[in-house]
Amino acid sequence: MARVGGTSAVGFGGAILVCVAFAYFISDRRWKKKKPIMKKTRGGVVDAIGNTPLIRINSLSDATNCQILAKCEFLNPGGSVKDRVALQIIQEALESGQLSPGGIITEGSAGSTAISIATVAPAFGCQCHVVIPDDAAIEKSQIIEALGATVERVRPVSITHKDHFVNIARRRASEANEFASKLRNSQLNGKDTYQINGHKSNGYDHSSLFPTDCKGGFFADQFENLANFRAHYEGTGPEIWEQTNGNLDAFVAAAGTGGTVAGISSFLQEKNPGIKCFLIDPPGSGLYNKVTRGVMYTKEEAEGRRLKNPFDTITEGIGINRITRNFAKAKLDGAFRGTDLEAVEMARFLLKNDGLFLGSSSAMNCVGAVRVAQALGPGHTIVTILCDSGMRHLSKFHNDKYLSQLGLMPKATGLEFLGIK
Ligand SMILES: Cc1ncc(COP(=O)(O)O)c(C=O)c1O
Repeated sequence: MARVGGTSAVGFGGAILVCVAFAYFISDRRWKKKKPIMKKTRGGVVDAIGNTPLIRINSLSDATNCQILAKCEFLNPGGSVKDRVALQIIQEALESGQLSPGGIITEGSAGSTAISIATVAPAFGCQCHVVIPDDAAIEKSQIIEALGATVERVRPVSITHKDHFVNIARRRASEANEFASKLRNSQLNGKDTYQINGHKSNGYDHSSLFPTDCKGGFFADQFENLANFRAHYEGTGPEIWEQTNGNLDAFVAAAGTGGTVAGISSFLQEKNPGIKCFLIDPPGSGLYNKVTRGVMYTKEEAEGRRLKNPFDTITEGIGINRITRNFAKAKLDGAFRGTDLEAVEMARFLLKNDGLFLGSSSAMNCVGAVRVAQALGPGHTIVTILCDSGMRHLSKFHNDKYLSQLGLMPKATGLEFLGIK
């Protein structure tokens, strides 16, 4: 009996050992499988831009029986997809000589691009001046100032108005050039800088804006500068292609400047013309009608119906009523409309189910991904972009008081707001 007992004890001990070894083997393999091969160091902040993870959004994939994949652009050093654009614009401008080393980069931006330029500019020894509409979330201009850039908050007006934030930014670059050239001339003529600082042009006091060693200005012009398109055509698009091994059926994103959707759609469709590319358009934007009917029109634009400037939407950075040079290069197969409530509900749903804390345009892109999944049916792989995180949207998009004032408090328990039970 003792022998039998001894044998069973040995057998039991052996079984435990085998189990432990097997568990170790499995966990070791899983760990090895999970860990990507990382470059040990990157060459400064600039080298840390791009190569963002592509993640499967589990809740949306399971609900639609598609693979819904998203580029985590909020993980860029400056916190958004616009880091890529800022880097490309600055590099190209320095290479072409349009921007002098130490010069001031000016931009009219609702926030993200400005934050990215303010982040990247110091890495090139440059400065940043930003003109921002005063209805953008306050935390955006606080961040830009904290990054060392100068900020002008202005009333939102039509792009045709000379004081639209983009037009003011363009003007500031010329003024910086004018100021720098006067400084150079005064140094050549031996005049003192105090006199130069007192110089005024069109009533604007440059001394309060530009440094006394001003090296001139350069208008980044994210809407019309095709460096924006190239950032995505040469960067984000190829990354998506590699990360999916070319196995994707569709791409969808909203457009602000159009750089993201144009650069990525152009690259993917060159690689495989069968990949369908779509726009998701927020309220007040004319692009949906432009893509689906060839006419740029929104009901919010009809006379007397405009509720608020500029695009009648709670989402930030997306929606526009003109065709930019960047958007003109987009290769689109169709468009969907998304509502503000859908974006708010989506943001809350992803926070609850996936631990993703997203900004308004990212949430709208995910609404777009579900719309594409519903249109194509189960079994498809759809890629979208998570442009920035919810951290930049605490005063509006993630603020219950603000949302309830607009009647946008989320109520959904699942994805019923998109017709999924
Ligand atoms: C937060 C955010 N998401 C999305 C976009 C839209 O991207 P794109 O300008 O490439 O169309 C912007 C543009 O400014 C943005 O700021």
